[in-house]
Amino acid sequence: MDPTLPPHPNPGDHIGKWGYFFTWTDSHLSRKKTEPLRQLFDSLGSAALERLQSIQSSLLDDSRIRGTSPPSNDLYTILQNHHREDEVLTQFWNETHTVPDWVNWEQLERGQRFLYRYIIANTVGFALQGFVAENSAASGVVEVLVRTGSFSTRMLLKRLLETFQWLILVTHDLAAIQPGGEGHTATLRVRLLHSSVRQRILHLCRTKPHYFNIDRHGVPINSLDSIHSISTFACNPMWLQLPKFKITPSPEEVKDYIALFRYLGYLLGTPISCFETVEKSKHTMESLVAHELHTTDTSRVVAYNFIECVANLPAPFHVSKKFIEAGSRWINGDEICDELELGKPGFFYQLIFAGCCILVLGLAWLQRMIPLFDEFMIKFSRDLLYQKIGLREYTRFDFKHIPRVGKTIGRERYRQNEDSQPWKACKYPPYLNYTFYDTTDIGHFELVCLTVALFSGGLLTGCVIQSGLWAYSKMRGLA
Ligand code: HEM
Repeated sequence: MDPTLPPHPNPGDHIGKWGYFFTWTDSHLSRKKTEPLRQLFDSLGSAALERLQSIQSSLLDDSRIRGTSPPSNDLYTILQNHHREDEVLTQFWNETHTVPDWVNWEQLERGQRFLYRYIIANTVGFALQGFVAENSAASGVVEVLVRTGSFSTRMLLKRLLETFQWLILVTHDLAAIQPGGEGHTATLRVRLLHSSVRQRILHLCRTKPHYFNIDRHGVPINSLDSIHSISTFACNPMWLQLPKFKITPSPEEVKDYIALFRYLGYLLGTPISCFETVEKSKHTMESLVAHELHTTDTSRVVAYNFIECVANLPAPFHVSKKFIEAGSRWINGDEICDELELGKPGFFYQLIFAGCCILVLGLAWLQRMIPLFDEFMIKFSRDLLYQKIGLREYTRFDFKHIPRVGKTIGRERYRQNEDSQPWKACKYPPYLNYTFYDTTDIGHFELVCLTVALFSGGLLTGCVIQSGLWAYSKMRGLA
């Protein structure tokens, strides 16, 4: 619990957390409402998983007896083929394949476009605010994540790519999220994956109760954690991320994007009543900011490994560690970044990040002015990301990082493979790497941002000098 915040705020209290300020109202969620959600979870998803596992093992036995090839180990395929044979599976199938009456497909389609309209701001915002700050500081969530080991630097990149791949699949087009679509099935696979993680951790807790503190963190992947994750995806871009780039999404954009995640949350078995309206969603996000975010040693490990991993992305995605730290400090403020023990880069990296903000704002401004350019940007980024990430090696979101007693992760430096190089934008002679290492580590994207910053700075200085000269000449004319 954050000692600087009242544990039970009253309406009218001014709340400030890590640079975000709001006034508590009756409609915010009190701890009395949020705490019980820690012990609730997607029970239908868990029951469906157990049925699928039992069908899978009887299919395996059959195939052994008959000497035929073993059945698919993809739980979704088993669900598809056997959902009529079991009551729980029928209920799971019907619930996830019946479109709720509040779903407005046109609105969801507009929501999908929001991701691509502000693709750079959304991606940088998600990485630096959604991940470095929100995810690392959501203490119950990180306790689950570190137990799967997928947050070791070796596995993290793959994990992040798979999460991003899911996001690309559910925003590709409307058909993708309609029953049977690519994004729809990916989401159901993720729901079953979450149930597998929960089942495994609870199983380990039965013999080793200290493995995971259920009293403190709640059931693994509980309803509160899931609401928090949906809020991070849907609400944080609107109020915690894009405004840091000076972009204010329009009221329609906010409504549409939140509606999209309300539907995805529904498919994931998350209680979604708190995302029924924009106002409720904002109150939910703010309540979670007040109650749920506090850094622990595990947060520092997760933030450290994340930065190590992102700073070692291959070209052209490589960005330097200092760029990530400068951006995190810009977006999240110094308080949380100090708590997460992030470095404090100097002016040069702040300038590069300022260039990133100018670039993102300039693009948003141009897109609002020129609808054709907006269409182009949405189509271009959507097609590019679908080709490069959506269609990359097909993932079934299966259970890869199985929790085991004693398996957890600590801080890890990223280790390069022998055949991989440090992916920098330019190749420099070794002596420069030692003397000016900081500046030789910058990536292609940083070079673009630096150019934008220098160009804008030059333009601004030129304008100031020009208007000074003009004013001077006017004054002389008057004299
Ligand atoms: C409700 C919103 C959520 C969304 C959209 C979401 C999305 C995803 C996606 C796309 C994956 C697949 C990535 C992969 O295969 O590596 C995944 C896996 C996973 N998620 Fe979530 N997630 C959500 C909530 C949560 C919460 C609240 C927790 C923890 C408290 C959590 C913990 C995990 C874990 C442990 C995995 C498995 C990673 C592995 O295989 O090691 N997720 N999630």
